[in-house]
Amino acid sequence: MEITRVDVTTKGGTYPIVLGQGVRDKIASFLEECLGQRPLAIVTDRHLAKLWLEPLYARLIKDSPKKPKLIVVPAGERAKTLDVYASVAQKLLYFGADRGWALVAFGGGVVGDLAGFVAATYQRGVPFVMVPTTLLAGVDASIGGKVAIDLKQAKNALGAFWQPSGVLIDTEYLSTLPKREYVAGLAEVLKYGMIQDEPFFEFIVSNAQALLRMDPGAMAKGIQASILHKKAIVEQDEREANLRAVLNFGHTFGHAFEAHAHYKTFLHGEAVGLGMLVEAAVAYRMGSTTKDVYARVEESLKALGLPTKPPSIHPDRMKRLLSLDKKKQGAKVRFVLLDRIGSVRIEPVAIEELVDLWKTLRAEGLP
Ligand SMILES: NC(=O)c1ccc[n+]([C@@H]2O[C@H](COP(=O)([O-])OP(=O)(O)OC[C@H]3O[C@@H](n4cnc5c(N)ncnc54)[C@H](O)[C@@H]3O)[C@@H](O)[C@H]2O)c1
Ligand SMILES: [Zn+2]
Repeated sequence: MEITRVDVTTKGGTYPIVLGQGVRDKIASFLEECLGQRPLAIVTDRHLAKLWLEPLYARLIKDSPKKPKLIVVPAGERAKTLDVYASVAQKLLYFGADRGWALVAFGGGVVGDLAGFVAATYQRGVPFVMVPTTLLAGVDASIGGKVAIDLKQAKNALGAFWQPSGVLIDTEYLSTLPKREYVAGLAEVLKYGMIQDEPFFEFIVSNAQALLRMDPGAMAKGIQASILHKKAIVEQDEREANLRAVLNFGHTFGHAFEAHAHYKTFLHGEAVGLGMLVEAAVAYRMGSTTKDVYARVEESLKALGLPTKPPSIHPDRMKRLLSLDKKKQGAKVRFVLLDRIGSVRIEPVAIEELVDLWKTLRAEGLP
């Protein structure tokens, strides 16, 4: 695979995303390009530390005179807590890190969100570079500058907009990613097709098998197109004033499914897949799209081996879950309504109305 470079321009400046198979070999020069000669601390999780850290670290030491510091956090969502956040910041203090330092977030979306939030707040902000190692992080979490940690009561409750200084995506990292995590990431890839690119949606459906076996060509196209979609959206609307909200397609119900099961049953991408399915059914029931579009959404999820049976949540509970939505404005949510494959619009919809539709879907079945 050749190496692709895409520049993302935000209010704070422009940063590069570099994508390619084996591109991690260029890590030292990439970090220098993005961060200059700053002392570095690499934040990673236990899985990555075991699997991939050593060669990366060796490469960094070989190619640059300074030894980066290492901070290893637990793997998974439980690293996005106040406690882990504090421990990372305290380690930085211990290392004597000042504002002249920079962080490298080496891992999935969890490490990116956590290290990014530390970067946004440590000494009022230090630069950071993302080296995403999951599909979800590569196509979504690492682009756009949203960083956050969770509170016990709510996911991503504390966060910031803090753009990275660069993103380096080596697709070889995906070779050790558990298959289920990879497939869940494909749901976000599919989302870009559904919201604004019908030919890309078709590409995913007809290349589902190639994508599932991680065919380098199919994967490169899927990741590249996703990056370009996310870039285009966040460049136009960095702070989610309006357009960026289209990225929440599938996330109104998706978040409800995740939260209902206390983030234990579904991976994020799986819940988003189910969310897209239910939201396509809602769009059909609201007269915004056709049954045929709903069927294509369902077929695409099946082609990728994503779940298509939403949990049967009681409407009262669904109402409470939907009321937690961050996109809520009073009694309404900014709902992403599917018109057809490749086209959505944002409409305020009353939570009551969504709950009523949910009640019907639950009783009569989808769509
Ligand atoms: N900031 C954003 O815009 C944004 C967008 C989407 C999601 N997110 C956040 O991202 C998080 C989810 O990210 P994720 O799906 O990448 O999960 P994750 O970071 O928890 O990674 C999933 C699991 O895979 C392991 N792993 C990561 N890379 C690996 C590799 N190459 N080989 C083997 N194992 C590997 C991790 O250790 C972990 O156990 C959530 O907290 C979500 O809120 C943020
Ligand atoms: Zn998502």
